[in-house]
Amino acid sequence: MENSKDRGNIQVAPEEIALQYKYMNDIKEINASDETNYGRKKKVFLQSFGCQMNENDSERLLGMLSEMGYIEANKAEDSDVVIFNTCCVRENAEEKVYGHLGALKKQKTDNPDKIIAVCGCMMQQGEVVDHIRKKYRHVDIVFGTHNLHKFPELLYRTINTKSTVIDVMESAGSIAEGMPIERKDAIKAWVTVMYGCNNFCSYCIVPYVRGRERSRNIDDIVNEITVLGQQNYKEITLLGQNVNSYGKDLGNEISFAKLIREINHIEGIERIRFMTSHPKDLSEELILAMRDCDKVCEHLHLPIQAGSTRILNDMNRKYSKENYIELVSKIREEIPDIALTTDIIVGYPGETEEDFEHTLDVLKKVRFDFAYTFLYSKRTGTPAAKSSEQVSDEVKKQRFEKLLEVQNKISKEINDKLLGKVEEVLVEGLSKNSIWNYTGRTRANKIVNFKGSKELVGRLINVKITGTQTWSLEGEIY
Ligand code: 5AD
Ligand code: SF4
Repeated sequence: MENSKDRGNIQVAPEEIALQYKYMNDIKEINASDETNYGRKKKVFLQSFGCQMNENDSERLLGMLSEMGYIEANKAEDSDVVIFNTCCVRENAEEKVYGHLGALKKQKTDNPDKIIAVCGCMMQQGEVVDHIRKKYRHVDIVFGTHNLHKFPELLYRTINTKSTVIDVMESAGSIAEGMPIERKDAIKAWVTVMYGCNNFCSYCIVPYVRGRERSRNIDDIVNEITVLGQQNYKEITLLGQNVNSYGKDLGNEISFAKLIREINHIEGIERIRFMTSHPKDLSEELILAMRDCDKVCEHLHLPIQAGSTRILNDMNRKYSKENYIELVSKIREEIPDIALTTDIIVGYPGETEEDFEHTLDVLKKVRFDFAYTFLYSKRTGTPAAKSSEQVSDEVKKQRFEKLLEVQNKISKEINDKLLGKVEEVLVEGLSKNSIWNYTGRTRANKIVNFKGSKELVGRLINVKITGTQTWSLEGEIY
Protein backbone atom coordinates (compact mmCIF):
# COMPACT_ATOMS: atom_id res chain seq x y z
CA MET A 1 0.00 0.00 0.00
CA GLU A 2 1.90 2.99 -1.18
CA ASN A 3 0.99 6.56 -1.74
CA SER A 4 2.93 8.61 -4.23
CA LYS A 5 3.21 12.21 -3.07
CA ASP A 6 3.50 14.88 -5.71
CA ARG A 7 6.74 16.16 -4.17
CA GLY A 8 8.67 13.15 -5.42
CA ASN A 9 9.25 10.61 -2.66
CA ILE A 10 7.03 7.68 -1.84
CA GLN A 11 5.48 7.40 1.58
CA VAL A 12 3.86 4.49 3.34
CA ALA A 13 0.11 5.15 3.24
CA PRO A 14 -1.54 6.36 6.47
CA GLU A 15 -3.83 3.27 6.43
CA GLU A 16 -0.76 1.03 6.52
CA ILE A 17 0.64 2.96 9.50
CA ALA A 18 -2.78 2.74 11.21
CA LEU A 19 -2.75 -1.03 10.63
CA GLN A 20 0.59 -1.31 12.40
CA TYR A 21 -0.79 0.67 15.34
CA LYS A 22 -3.66 -1.85 15.46
CA TYR A 23 -1.15 -4.73 15.65
CA MET A 24 0.76 -2.87 18.37
CA ASN A 25 -2.45 -2.51 20.31
CA ASP A 26 -3.36 -6.19 19.90
CA ILE A 27 0.05 -7.27 21.19
CA LYS A 28 -0.22 -4.79 24.05
CA GLU A 29 -3.45 -6.50 25.12
CA ILE A 30 -1.85 -9.95 24.92
CA ASN A 31 1.09 -8.68 26.99
CA ALA A 32 -1.20 -7.02 29.55
CA SER A 33 -3.08 -10.27 30.13
CA ASP A 34 0.23 -12.21 30.35
CA GLU A 35 1.43 -9.65 32.90
CA THR A 36 -1.61 -10.37 35.05
CA ASN A 37 -0.99 -14.13 34.77
CA TYR A 38 2.78 -14.14 35.26
CA GLY A 39 3.16 -11.08 37.47
CA ARG A 40 5.81 -9.36 35.35
CA LYS A 41 6.14 -7.21 32.28
CA LYS A 42 7.42 -8.69 29.02
CA LYS A 43 11.05 -7.88 28.29
CA VAL A 44 13.02 -7.22 25.13
CA PHE A 45 16.75 -7.29 24.49
CA LEU A 46 17.80 -5.38 21.40
CA GLN A 47 21.38 -5.22 20.18
CA SER A 48 22.48 -2.99 17.30
CA PHE A 49 25.53 -3.37 15.13
CA GLY A 50 26.92 -0.79 12.76
CA CYS A 51 26.29 2.84 12.04
CA GLN A 52 24.16 5.60 13.57
CA MET A 53 21.42 4.98 11.02
CA ASN A 54 21.08 1.47 12.39
CA GLU A 55 21.02 2.87 15.94
CA ASN A 56 18.27 5.24 14.84
CA ASP A 57 16.33 2.30 13.35
CA SER A 58 16.75 0.50 16.67
CA GLU A 59 15.24 3.51 18.43
CA ARG A 60 12.23 3.08 16.16
CA LEU A 61 11.97 -0.62 17.01
CA LEU A 62 12.18 0.23 20.71
CA GLY A 63 9.45 2.84 20.20
CA MET A 64 7.18 0.15 18.71
CA LEU A 65 8.10 -2.34 21.43
CA SER A 66 7.40 0.17 24.18
CA GLU A 67 4.01 0.89 22.58
CA MET A 68 3.36 -2.88 22.78
CA GLY A 69 4.14 -2.94 26.49
CA TYR A 70 7.66 -4.36 26.44
CA ILE A 71 10.37 -3.05 28.74
CA GLU A 72 14.05 -3.15 27.82
CA ALA A 73 16.35 -5.76 29.38
CA ASN A 74 20.12 -5.73 29.20
CA LYS A 75 20.58 -9.47 28.73
CA ALA A 76 19.19 -11.89 26.14
CA GLU A 77 18.75 -14.58 28.83
CA ASP A 78 16.16 -12.53 30.72
CA SER A 79 14.13 -11.53 27.69
CA ASP A 80 10.96 -12.68 25.97
CA VAL A 81 12.02 -11.08 22.69
CA VAL A 82 15.60 -10.83 21.43
CA ILE A 83 16.41 -8.69 18.38
CA PHE A 84 19.67 -8.22 16.52
CA ASN A 85 19.74 -5.22 14.23
CA THR A 86 22.60 -6.16 11.93
CA CYS A 87 25.25 -4.47 9.80
CA CYS A 88 27.06 -5.86 6.75
CA VAL A 89 29.54 -3.09 5.90
CA ARG A 90 32.46 -5.26 7.03
CA GLU A 91 32.79 -9.00 7.52
CA ASN A 92 33.58 -8.86 11.25
CA ALA A 93 30.18 -7.26 11.99
CA GLU A 94 28.50 -10.22 10.27
CA GLU A 95 30.58 -12.79 12.10
CA LYS A 96 29.57 -11.29 15.45
CA VAL A 97 25.89 -11.68 14.60
CA TYR A 98 26.30 -15.36 13.69
CA GLY A 99 28.19 -15.87 16.96
CA HIS A 100 25.38 -14.30 18.99
CA LEU A 101 22.70 -16.21 17.10
CA GLY A 102 24.49 -19.50 17.71
CA ALA A 103 24.67 -18.76 21.43
CA LEU A 104 20.88 -18.30 21.56
CA LYS A 105 20.10 -21.84 20.39
CA LYS A 106 20.19 -23.33 23.87
CA GLN A 107 18.06 -20.51 25.29
CA LYS A 108 15.42 -21.20 22.65
CA THR A 109 15.46 -24.94 23.47
CA ASP A 110 15.05 -24.16 27.17
CA ASN A 111 12.32 -21.61 26.49
CA PRO A 112 10.52 -22.23 23.18
CA ASP A 113 8.32 -19.14 23.77
CA LYS A 114 11.31 -16.84 23.48
CA ILE A 115 11.06 -14.93 20.20
CA ILE A 116 14.27 -14.33 18.28
CA ALA A 117 14.32 -11.72 15.51
CA VAL A 118 17.05 -10.54 13.15
CA CYS A 119 16.78 -7.47 11.00
CA GLY A 120 18.88 -4.75 9.38
CA CYS A 121 21.30 -4.57 6.49
CA MET A 122 22.57 -8.17 6.59
CA MET A 123 19.03 -9.40 5.96
CA GLN A 124 18.85 -7.52 2.67
CA GLN A 125 21.24 -10.12 1.24
CA GLY A 126 19.46 -13.20 -0.08
CA GLU A 127 22.30 -15.59 0.75
CA VAL A 128 22.30 -14.45 4.40
CA VAL A 129 18.57 -15.13 4.74
CA ASP A 130 19.04 -18.59 3.18
CA HIS A 131 21.91 -19.32 5.55
CA ILE A 132 19.85 -18.29 8.60
CA ARG A 133 16.89 -20.30 7.38
CA LYS A 134 19.05 -23.42 7.05
CA LYS A 135 21.55 -23.12 9.91
CA TYR A 136 19.76 -21.05 12.53
CA ARG A 137 16.32 -22.64 12.60
CA HIS A 138 15.65 -21.22 16.06
CA VAL A 139 15.25 -17.73 14.57
CA ASP A 140 11.56 -16.71 14.46
CA ILE A 141 11.50 -13.43 12.53
CA VAL A 142 13.71 -12.17 9.69
CA PHE A 143 13.08 -8.74 8.21
CA GLY A 144 15.09 -6.11 6.38
CA THR A 145 15.68 -2.39 6.43
CA HIS A 146 12.96 -1.52 3.90
CA ASN A 147 10.02 -2.77 5.93
CA LEU A 148 11.05 -1.91 9.47
CA HIS A 149 7.68 -0.28 10.12
CA LYS A 150 5.99 -3.65 9.59
CA PHE A 151 7.64 -5.17 12.66
CA PRO A 152 4.42 -5.12 14.77
CA GLU A 153 2.61 -7.17 12.11
CA LEU A 154 5.46 -9.68 11.85
CA LEU A 155 5.66 -10.05 15.61
CA TYR A 156 1.89 -10.54 15.80
CA ARG A 157 2.07 -13.27 13.17
CA THR A 158 4.84 -15.10 15.03
CA ILE A 159 3.04 -14.89 18.36
CA ASN A 160 -0.14 -16.27 16.83
CA THR A 161 1.15 -18.90 14.43
CA LYS A 162 4.29 -19.90 16.37
CA SER A 163 6.00 -20.27 13.00
CA THR A 164 8.95 -18.54 11.38
CA VAL A 165 8.15 -15.29 9.59
CA ILE A 166 10.49 -14.08 6.86
CA ASP A 167 9.63 -10.76 5.25
CA VAL A 168 12.39 -9.00 3.35
CA MET A 169 11.46 -6.48 0.67
CA GLU A 170 13.99 -6.57 -2.12
CA SER A 171 13.51 -3.12 -3.53
CA ALA A 172 14.02 0.08 -1.60
CA GLY A 173 11.07 0.79 0.59
CA SER A 174 8.90 3.82 0.93
CA ILE A 175 9.31 6.27 3.79
CA ALA A 176 7.27 5.56 6.91
CA GLU A 177 6.34 8.65 8.91
CA GLY A 178 4.42 8.67 12.17
CA MET A 179 5.76 5.50 13.78
CA PRO A 180 6.76 5.70 17.45
CA ILE A 181 10.35 6.19 18.59
CA GLU A 182 12.11 5.72 21.91
CA ARG A 183 15.39 7.60 21.94
CA LYS A 184 18.44 6.37 23.84
CA ASP A 185 19.51 9.83 24.90
CA ALA A 186 17.64 12.77 26.40
CA ILE A 187 20.03 15.51 25.22
CA LYS A 188 21.26 14.49 21.77
CA ALA A 189 19.03 13.03 19.06
CA TRP A 190 19.54 11.48 15.66
CA VAL A 191 17.27 12.52 12.85
CA THR A 192 17.45 10.56 9.62
CA VAL A 193 16.91 12.95 6.70
CA MET A 194 17.43 10.54 3.86
CA TYR A 195 17.77 6.85 3.20
CA GLY A 196 19.91 4.91 0.73
CA CYS A 197 22.86 5.75 -1.47
CA ASN A 198 23.37 6.12 -5.24
CA ASN A 199 27.15 6.22 -5.24
CA PHE A 200 28.25 2.63 -5.63
CA CYS A 201 31.76 3.05 -4.30
CA SER A 202 33.41 -0.13 -5.54
CA TYR A 203 34.11 -1.59 -2.07
CA CYS A 204 30.77 -0.78 -0.47
CA ILE A 205 27.68 -2.90 -0.02
CA VAL A 206 25.42 -0.12 1.29
CA PRO A 207 23.74 0.80 -2.04
CA TYR A 208 22.79 -2.87 -2.52
CA VAL A 209 21.19 -3.24 0.91
CA ARG A 210 19.85 0.25 1.62
CA GLY A 211 18.61 1.00 -1.91
CA ARG A 212 18.52 4.26 -3.84
CA GLU A 213 18.48 7.72 -2.25
CA ARG A 214 15.14 8.77 -0.79
CA SER A 215 14.77 12.07 1.04
CA ARG A 216 12.19 12.76 3.72
CA ASN A 217 9.97 15.77 3.17
CA ILE A 218 11.35 18.90 4.74
CA ASP A 219 8.13 19.51 6.74
CA ASP A 220 8.37 16.08 8.37
CA ILE A 221 12.01 16.74 9.33
CA VAL A 222 11.32 20.23 10.66
CA ASN A 223 8.31 18.98 12.65
CA GLU A 224 10.36 16.17 14.20
CA ILE A 225 13.12 18.58 15.26
CA THR A 226 10.61 21.16 16.55
CA VAL A 227 9.20 18.51 18.87
CA LEU A 228 12.74 17.57 19.96
CA GLY A 229 13.38 21.23 20.82
CA GLN A 230 10.19 21.28 22.91
CA GLN A 231 11.33 18.09 24.65
CA ASN A 232 14.54 19.83 25.74
CA TYR A 233 16.87 18.12 23.30
CA LYS A 234 19.89 20.35 22.76
CA GLU A 235 21.71 18.71 19.88
CA ILE A 236 20.60 16.96 16.72
CA THR A 237 22.63 15.01 14.21
CA LEU A 238 21.11 14.78 10.75
CA LEU A 239 21.76 11.34 9.30
CA GLY A 240 22.03 9.95 5.81
CA GLN A 241 24.54 7.84 3.88
CA ASN A 242 25.24 10.94 1.80
CA VAL A 243 23.43 13.93 3.31
CA ASN A 244 24.78 16.29 0.63
CA SER A 245 22.40 14.66 -1.85
CA TYR A 246 19.42 15.58 0.33
CA GLY A 247 16.49 16.83 -1.76
CA LYS A 248 17.83 15.82 -5.17
CA ASP A 249 15.08 13.20 -5.50
CA LEU A 250 12.33 15.55 -4.32
CA GLY A 251 12.30 17.35 -7.62
CA ASN A 252 12.05 20.88 -6.30
CA GLU A 253 14.39 23.62 -5.11
CA ILE A 254 15.32 22.07 -1.79
CA SER A 255 18.95 21.25 -0.95
CA PHE A 256 20.80 20.13 2.16
CA ALA A 257 22.14 23.67 2.64
CA LYS A 258 18.59 25.03 2.59
CA LEU A 259 17.48 22.33 5.02
CA ILE A 260 20.09 23.28 7.62
CA ARG A 261 19.32 27.00 7.23
CA GLU A 262 15.70 26.12 8.02
CA ILE A 263 16.61 23.94 11.01
CA ASN A 264 18.89 26.65 12.39
CA HIS A 265 15.76 28.62 13.42
CA ILE A 266 14.24 25.86 15.52
CA GLU A 267 13.82 26.92 19.12
CA GLY A 268 15.53 24.97 21.91
CA ILE A 269 18.04 23.20 19.63
CA GLU A 270 21.51 24.60 20.32
CA ARG A 271 23.70 22.42 18.14
CA ILE A 272 23.33 20.91 14.69
CA ARG A 273 25.61 18.21 13.31
CA PHE A 274 25.31 15.98 10.28
CA MET A 275 26.85 12.93 8.69
CA THR A 276 27.99 11.61 6.28
CA SER A 277 29.19 14.03 3.59
CA HIS A 278 30.63 12.80 0.32
CA PRO A 279 33.47 15.11 -0.82
CA LYS A 280 32.23 15.08 -4.44
CA ASP A 281 28.86 16.54 -3.37
CA LEU A 282 29.96 19.04 -0.73
CA SER A 283 28.83 22.27 -2.34
CA GLU A 284 29.96 25.84 -1.81
CA GLU A 285 26.34 26.54 -0.86
CA LEU A 286 26.70 24.09 2.05
CA ILE A 287 30.03 25.54 3.20
CA LEU A 288 28.42 28.98 3.33
CA ALA A 289 25.38 27.67 5.18
CA MET A 290 27.69 26.03 7.74
CA ARG A 291 29.54 29.29 8.13
CA ASP A 292 26.36 31.36 8.51
CA CYS A 293 24.27 29.11 10.76
CA ASP A 294 25.31 29.71 14.36
CA LYS A 295 23.97 26.35 15.55
CA VAL A 296 25.90 24.27 13.03
CA CYS A 297 28.96 23.01 14.87
CA GLU A 298 32.49 23.57 13.57
CA HIS A 299 33.00 19.92 12.76
CA LEU A 300 32.79 18.02 9.51
CA HIS A 301 33.09 14.31 8.90
CA LEU A 302 34.45 14.03 5.37
CA PRO A 303 35.53 10.50 4.44
CA ILE A 304 38.49 10.47 2.09
CA GLN A 305 38.87 6.64 2.03
CA ALA A 306 42.33 6.73 0.38
CA GLY A 307 45.02 9.23 -0.56
CA SER A 308 46.08 7.86 -3.93
CA THR A 309 44.18 9.26 -6.92
CA ARG A 310 44.65 5.96 -8.73
CA ILE A 311 42.95 4.09 -5.88
CA LEU A 312 40.25 6.77 -5.53
CA ASN A 313 39.45 6.33 -9.23
CA ASP A 314 39.23 2.60 -8.81
CA MET A 315 36.99 3.12 -5.77
CA ASN A 316 34.65 5.22 -7.98
CA ARG A 317 34.90 8.13 -5.54
CA LYS A 318 34.92 10.78 -8.31
CA TYR A 319 37.56 13.09 -6.78
CA SER A 320 41.35 13.12 -6.74
CA LYS A 321 43.80 13.59 -3.88
CA GLU A 322 44.28 17.20 -5.05
CA ASN A 323 40.50 17.86 -5.29
CA TYR A 324 40.12 16.73 -1.70
CA ILE A 325 42.97 18.89 -0.42
CA GLU A 326 41.57 21.91 -2.31
CA LEU A 327 38.12 21.29 -0.87
CA VAL A 328 39.58 21.27 2.64
CA SER A 329 41.32 24.61 2.01
CA LYS A 330 38.04 26.09 0.75
CA ILE A 331 36.24 24.91 3.88
CA ARG A 332 38.99 26.24 6.14
CA GLU A 333 38.93 29.62 4.39
CA GLU A 334 35.30 30.06 5.44
CA ILE A 335 35.41 28.20 8.79
CA PRO A 336 39.03 28.45 10.01
CA ASP A 337 38.68 26.46 13.25
CA ILE A 338 36.70 23.60 11.80
CA ALA A 339 37.54 20.14 13.13
CA LEU A 340 37.79 17.53 10.41
CA THR A 341 37.35 13.80 10.80
CA THR A 342 37.53 11.15 8.10
CA ASP A 343 37.21 7.48 7.19
CA ILE A 344 40.13 5.61 5.65
CA ILE A 345 40.29 2.11 4.22
CA VAL A 346 43.67 0.37 4.16
CA GLY A 347 44.52 -2.53 1.91
CA TYR A 348 42.00 -1.84 -0.84
CA PRO A 349 42.69 -4.32 -3.71
CA GLY A 350 45.77 -3.29 -5.68
CA GLU A 351 46.95 -0.74 -3.07
CA THR A 352 50.75 -0.54 -3.36
CA GLU A 353 53.23 0.93 -0.85
CA GLU A 354 53.32 4.01 -3.05
CA ASP A 355 49.52 4.36 -2.94
CA PHE A 356 49.60 3.97 0.82
CA GLU A 357 52.26 6.69 1.07
CA HIS A 358 49.74 9.04 -0.56
CA THR A 359 47.26 8.26 2.24
CA LEU A 360 49.92 9.10 4.86
CA ASP A 361 50.76 12.25 2.90
CA VAL A 362 47.11 13.40 2.97
CA LEU A 363 46.97 12.80 6.73
CA LYS A 364 50.01 15.02 7.17
CA LYS A 365 48.75 17.72 4.79
CA VAL A 366 45.13 17.89 5.96
CA ARG A 367 45.80 17.16 9.63
CA PHE A 368 42.51 15.55 10.61
CA ASP A 369 41.37 15.73 14.21
CA PHE A 370 40.50 12.06 14.04
CA ALA A 371 40.39 9.26 11.46
CA TYR A 372 38.23 6.14 11.58
CA THR A 373 40.43 3.53 9.97
CA PHE A 374 39.24 0.25 8.51
CA LEU A 375 40.94 -2.81 7.06
CA TYR A 376 39.47 -3.43 3.62
CA SER A 377 36.85 -6.16 3.88
CA LYS A 378 35.72 -8.13 0.84
CA ARG A 379 31.96 -7.77 0.31
CA THR A 380 30.37 -10.27 -2.05
CA GLY A 381 28.58 -8.57 -4.94
CA THR A 382 30.74 -5.45 -4.95
CA PRO A 383 33.18 -4.82 -7.85
CA ALA A 384 36.26 -4.64 -5.58
CA ALA A 385 35.60 -8.12 -4.21
CA LYS A 386 36.19 -9.56 -7.71
CA SER A 387 39.67 -8.06 -8.01
CA SER A 388 42.53 -10.56 -8.25
CA GLU A 389 44.85 -8.10 -6.50
CA GLN A 390 43.66 -8.59 -2.91
CA VAL A 391 46.17 -7.30 -0.33
CA SER A 392 47.33 -9.83 2.29
CA ASP A 393 46.06 -9.55 5.86
CA GLU A 394 49.60 -9.07 7.09
CA VAL A 395 50.24 -6.06 4.83
CA LYS A 396 46.84 -4.59 5.71
CA LYS A 397 47.64 -4.82 9.42
CA GLN A 398 51.09 -3.27 8.99
CA ARG A 399 49.60 -0.32 7.09
CA PHE A 400 46.82 0.03 9.63
CA GLU A 401 49.35 0.27 12.48
CA LYS A 402 51.43 2.82 10.60
CA LEU A 403 48.35 4.91 9.84
CA LEU A 404 47.31 4.93 13.49
CA GLU A 405 50.79 5.94 14.58
CA VAL A 406 50.84 8.92 12.20
CA GLN A 407 47.24 9.96 12.95
CA ASN A 408 47.50 9.60 16.75
CA LYS A 409 50.46 11.94 16.80
CA ILE A 410 48.52 14.53 14.78
CA SER A 411 45.38 14.17 16.95
CA LYS A 412 47.43 14.74 20.10
CA GLU A 413 49.22 17.77 18.60
CA ILE A 414 45.88 19.33 17.58
CA ASN A 415 44.47 18.70 21.06
CA ASP A 416 47.59 20.18 22.70
CA LYS A 417 46.84 23.49 20.99
CA LEU A 418 43.61 23.68 23.00
CA LEU A 419 45.46 23.81 26.35
CA GLY A 420 44.39 26.90 28.27
CA LYS A 421 41.49 27.66 25.87
CA VAL A 422 37.90 28.01 27.04
CA GLU A 423 35.49 25.74 25.18
CA GLU A 424 31.70 25.55 25.12
CA VAL A 425 30.75 22.08 26.37
CA LEU A 426 27.38 20.34 26.21
CA VAL A 427 27.30 18.28 29.41
CA GLU A 428 26.23 14.71 28.65
CA GLY A 429 26.45 12.91 32.00
CA LEU A 430 28.73 10.84 34.17
CA SER A 431 32.17 10.08 32.81
CA LYS A 432 33.67 6.60 32.59
CA ASN A 433 36.86 8.22 33.78
CA SER A 434 37.20 7.84 37.56
CA ILE A 435 39.10 11.07 38.25
CA TRP A 436 36.89 13.38 36.22
CA ASN A 437 33.31 12.54 37.10
CA TYR A 438 31.43 14.34 34.30
CA THR A 439 31.76 14.38 30.55
CA GLY A 440 30.58 16.44 27.59
CA ARG A 441 31.59 17.50 24.11
CA THR A 442 32.90 20.66 22.55
CA ARG A 443 31.40 22.08 19.36
CA ALA A 444 34.28 20.34 17.53
CA ASN A 445 32.87 17.08 18.98
CA LYS A 446 35.82 16.48 21.30
CA ILE A 447 35.17 14.67 24.57
CA VAL A 448 35.96 16.76 27.66
CA ASN A 449 36.09 15.22 31.13
CA PHE A 450 35.78 17.54 34.11
CA LYS A 451 34.65 17.74 37.73
CA GLY A 452 30.97 18.66 37.67
CA SER A 453 27.60 17.91 39.17
CA LYS A 454 24.26 16.41 38.22
CA GLU A 455 22.37 19.66 37.58
CA LEU A 456 24.77 20.55 34.75
CA VAL A 457 23.62 17.62 32.58
CA GLY A 458 21.98 18.90 29.40
CA ARG A 459 23.43 22.39 29.82
CA LEU A 460 26.01 24.29 27.80
CA ILE A 461 28.85 25.42 30.03
CA ASN A 462 32.30 26.90 29.54
CA VAL A 463 35.23 24.67 30.39
CA LYS A 464 38.88 25.68 30.45
CA ILE A 465 41.08 22.97 28.95
CA THR A 466 43.73 21.88 31.45
CA GLY A 467 44.90 18.57 30.00
CA THR A 468 44.93 16.71 26.70
CA GLN A 469 44.95 13.10 25.56
CA THR A 470 44.91 11.67 22.04
CA TRP A 471 41.13 11.15 22.00
CA SER A 472 39.89 13.39 24.82
CA LEU A 473 40.46 16.56 26.81
CA GLU A 474 40.33 17.42 30.49
CA GLY A 475 39.19 20.70 31.96
CA GLU A 476 37.74 22.83 34.70
CA ILE A 477 34.44 24.67 34.74
CA TYR A 478 35.21 28.26 33.85
N1 5AD B 1 35.82 -2.56 3.86
C1 5AD B 1 36.30 -1.71 4.79
N2 5AD B 1 35.71 -0.57 5.11
C2 5AD B 1 34.56 -0.25 4.46
N3 5AD B 1 33.75 0.82 4.56
C3 5AD B 1 32.74 0.66 3.70
N4 5AD B 1 32.87 -0.50 3.04
C4 5AD B 1 34.01 -1.08 3.48
C5 5AD B 1 34.68 -2.29 3.19
N5 5AD B 1 34.23 -3.14 2.26
C6 5AD B 1 34.05 1.95 5.43
C7 5AD B 1 34.17 3.26 4.66
C8 5AD B 1 32.92 3.99 5.04
C9 5AD B 1 32.69 3.50 6.45
C10 5AD B 1 31.33 3.70 6.99
O1 5AD B 1 32.97 2.13 6.35
O2 5AD B 1 35.30 3.94 5.12
O3 5AD B 1 33.07 5.40 4.99
FE1 SF4 C 1 29.05 3.33 0.60
FE2 SF4 C 1 30.14 5.17 -1.00
FE3 SF4 C 1 27.51 5.23 -0.48
FE4 SF4 C 1 29.25 5.86 1.46
S1 SF4 C 1 28.96 6.98 -0.47
S2 SF4 C 1 27.45 4.50 1.66
S3 SF4 C 1 30.96 4.48 1.01
S4 SF4 C 1 28.60 3.63 -1.60
